[in-house]
Amino acid sequence: MKLAVFSTKPYDKRYIEAARDAAAAKATESPANRPASADIEVVYHEFALEEDTVALAKGADAICAFVNDSLSAPVVEALARQGVKAILLRCAGFNHVDLVAAEKAGIMVANVPSYSPEAVAEFAVALIQTLNRNTHRAYNRAREGNFALDGLLGRTLHGKTVGLIGTGKIGIATARIMKGFGCRILAYDPYPSPALEGIGEYKSLDEVLPESDIVSLHCPLMDSTRQIINETAIAKMKPGAMLINTSRGGLVDTRAVIRALKTQHLSGVALDVYEGEGALFYDDHSGEIIHDDVLMRLMTFHNVIVTGHQAFFTQEALREIADCTLRNIDEFVVTGTCKNSLTKDLKLVRRDSLPVRGV
Ligand code: NAI
Repeated sequence: MKLAVFSTKPYDKRYIEAARDAAAAKATESPANRPASADIEVVYHEFALEEDTVALAKGADAICAFVNDSLSAPVVEALARQGVKAILLRCAGFNHVDLVAAEKAGIMVANVPSYSPEAVAEFAVALIQTLNRNTHRAYNRAREGNFALDGLLGRTLHGKTVGLIGTGKIGIATARIMKGFGCRILAYDPYPSPALEGIGEYKSLDEVLPESDIVSLHCPLMDSTRQIINETAIAKMKPGAMLINTSRGGLVDTRAVIRALKTQHLSGVALDVYEGEGALFYDDHSGEIIHDDVLMRLMTFHNVIVTGHQAFFTQEALREIADCTLRNIDEFVVTGTCKNSLTKDLKLVRRDSLPVRGV
């Protein structure tokens, strides 16, 4: 079995190699149950998977891709022509994969559905705390010997209302933490979860937005959620509210956010994801002129924090991503599918949950 890994960073390689070593050790201990991943041949590519690079998957039985790799229909079809039988995502989100094309091409697509919801939730809370108490500004000031407090005034979170859009694994983990801060938790999710019981209360989106001091996004990017935070939704938000997005950039109309920051309708915005992130995130552009004027304008606000899609980035999450990816391979080799397959029963996927491409 040959696996081609795209968008490889040194940390990806380290964790995949460690998972492979563990599989090999297991095979030595118990040769009768030797997993396929113990003998897998891995080729690491630093560049992203896209139409121009898909030819480099030639000879691979499976490819491993990340959030900003393109898995559009032309890429998926090209993979199929080269004999690739499985696409293994090193992430939970699959909005960047044309699942219909994969299904038609007979390629299995599997994700890592839950590597550490707490890692993402904890990062969302870190963004809330930073934005609220201006620790990003305090850090820079203190290093220059400026210990003045003017401009660093925050608000006590205890007693404030947090509105969560999406209460899956990450939304619930965020709710639990913010509940611990003494916040009131409101949530909107068309598919309510019993896990919110005793922590918070479900309301309609139109009720959550005006009542929340902090709105945090935790729903996937789909046709039905694209720009769920647009001009109209922002107008419904409480004046002075903070917006946090650790989910997907396409959930937010960034230009509308900029307008709301200019009128001070929003008191702060923290984004770990951005709709145009594919061209920038995960690489060092510090020596270049960045041509994304929307992002650049956004970053001129002192009350905006942008991070490079790092909410997932903990040791535990990387370990689980690598382990789960190899488990997906082992299961696929034996059964031709796996429990994390996203293509096994596409007919059952709701229409509004079909992925949209381009993020
Ligand atoms: P999940 O699948 O457990 O939960 C998603 C929730 O969103 C579900 O409860 C679903 O019913 C809800 N939902 C669907 N449509 C909705 C709508 N119109 N409005 C409100 N809620 C809606 O997913 P999980 O693991 O909680 O992840 C959430 C998102 O976080 C992922 O889709 C991914 O985009 C993002 N993510 C970001 C990471 C990062 O590093 N920044 C890492 C991992 C995930």
